[in-house]
Amino acid sequence: MERVIIFDTTLRDGEQSPGFSMNTMEKLEMARQLARLQVDVIEAGFPISSDDDFEATRQVAKQVGTLDNAPAICGLSRVGLGDIDRCWEAVKYAKKPRIHTFVATSDIHLKYKLRKSRAEVLKASVEAVRHARAYCEDVEFSPEDASRSDFDYMCDVLSAVIEAGARTINIPDTVGYAIPKEWGERIARIRSSVQGIDKAVLSVHCHNDLGQAVANSLTAVMSGARQVECTINGIGERAGNASLEEIVMALRTRKDFFGVETRVKTEEIFKASRLLSHITGIHVQPNKAIVGENAFAHEAGIHQDGVLKEKLTYEIMRPEDIGRPSNKLVLGKHSGRHALAARLKDLGFALAGPELDRAYKAFKDLADRKKEVYDEDLMAIVTDEATQTAAGYEIAYLHVISGTGVVPSATIKLKKEDQVFQDSGVGDGPVDAVLAAIDAITGLKGRLQDYSLRAATSGKDAIGEVSMKVDFDGTVVSGKGSSTDVIEASARAYLSALNRLAQPTVQRVKEVGP
Ligand code: KIV
Ligand code: ZN
Repeated sequence: MERVIIFDTTLRDGEQSPGFSMNTMEKLEMARQLARLQVDVIEAGFPISSDDDFEATRQVAKQVGTLDNAPAICGLSRVGLGDIDRCWEAVKYAKKPRIHTFVATSDIHLKYKLRKSRAEVLKASVEAVRHARAYCEDVEFSPEDASRSDFDYMCDVLSAVIEAGARTINIPDTVGYAIPKEWGERIARIRSSVQGIDKAVLSVHCHNDLGQAVANSLTAVMSGARQVECTINGIGERAGNASLEEIVMALRTRKDFFGVETRVKTEEIFKASRLLSHITGIHVQPNKAIVGENAFAHEAGIHQDGVLKEKLTYEIMRPEDIGRPSNKLVLGKHSGRHALAARLKDLGFALAGPELDRAYKAFKDLADRKKEVYDEDLMAIVTDEATQTAAGYEIAYLHVISGTGVVPSATIKLKKEDQVFQDSGVGDGPVDAVLAAIDAITGLKGRLQDYSLRAATSGKDAIGEVSMKVDFDGTVVSGKGSSTDVIEASARAYLSALNRLAQPTVQRVKEVGP
């Protein structure tokens, strides 16, 4: 059966949209999960856009691109030769490096954005691809705004870049303008009109402005596209990119119809989705296909009755196909380190050494507070630990007074390396009071821009996961924290933001336009 290459751009197109920025450590964590998911290509960043993006791409190439069976690690660059040099410097460490170069081909972009003629853009494209090919074989070219580009001109550019050595031709619907039938026809026409197209893999990259990104990607596959660019949870510019989980599961569930397969290990999908939500603090809506809270929940009596009799009646996929935990009771306070390690391994987290020690301590604390520990709780603990910054403030003691008719107040003791600090604060609620106490210690004044709290599982004793965005004097940092005590979870989230602020990677400059 023919294979469709899954090109994941969560760390590039996904990450560049507001609210989704990640530091190097977070990108690495996500990239490791994408490798476990067995995507074929990870687009790790846009190296020329900032020093941080360069460094994150370089680290992904070094640490994930060198693993056994590693995916290709790709960097994005405009057609400028300096961009390509910088991109290569970042991706060259990977076993399979890829340079992805792009330039707009629509008249709208040529006239208003680039202020270049068609001939100039064609020439720059060819030079860029030649330059990139001098570094590596795996070169991808994208005519930006392809869905609004003059068809014949775009085809001329494509045949010229194939001649210059491009091995993947990616057709972006940059502004999410295409409609499935028309898009499928456009892809089929490209296949039949572009000279030399057989020498390249035909790819699509669809945005979701009209809600058609996944449908457009799938019609492109029906028309012969053999690479799809997509993101976990569908994150990306504006309304997002095509969602990886929807594309992969559609191709798998309807293999009878599409007649193609992917190499993705679907059992890793749920973990990838949760990890991304945890890192970015942005959760998917409950009815999101495949990974939403309700995606496998049958509410109507008639459906429940059918599923109890035979799952096939209403279930076209099984939760276990995407690695969704069954929420079964797993461990209790008497469970040992080995039992925890074994259960985490079943869930796909192979922890050992200090990482396992930290997870075990967090598990014991949780089991002391909560009688029943579910798979979802373990995932919350591990992802929380993975995204906390190693060096920084930790809570040593927290006491909060709050209630009706009482002025909320908090006293907190923080540890940092060998030092202990203590202070207190009051506020208009317990969270406000705790954050005021932390500010009194650090001397910084954070302003909460966004705050969300969700329960990791059902039950009154569930773990609360807090995500927040904090503005520290103009620098906005996100933070996350989990605990069965939502006030403590809030304090942990605030401290994780504060600790990230101290990292140089937070000072991001991401304003490079094409
Ligand atoms: O949407 C777009 O056109 C892009 C290109 C850089 C591929 O992201
Ligand atoms: Zn895009």
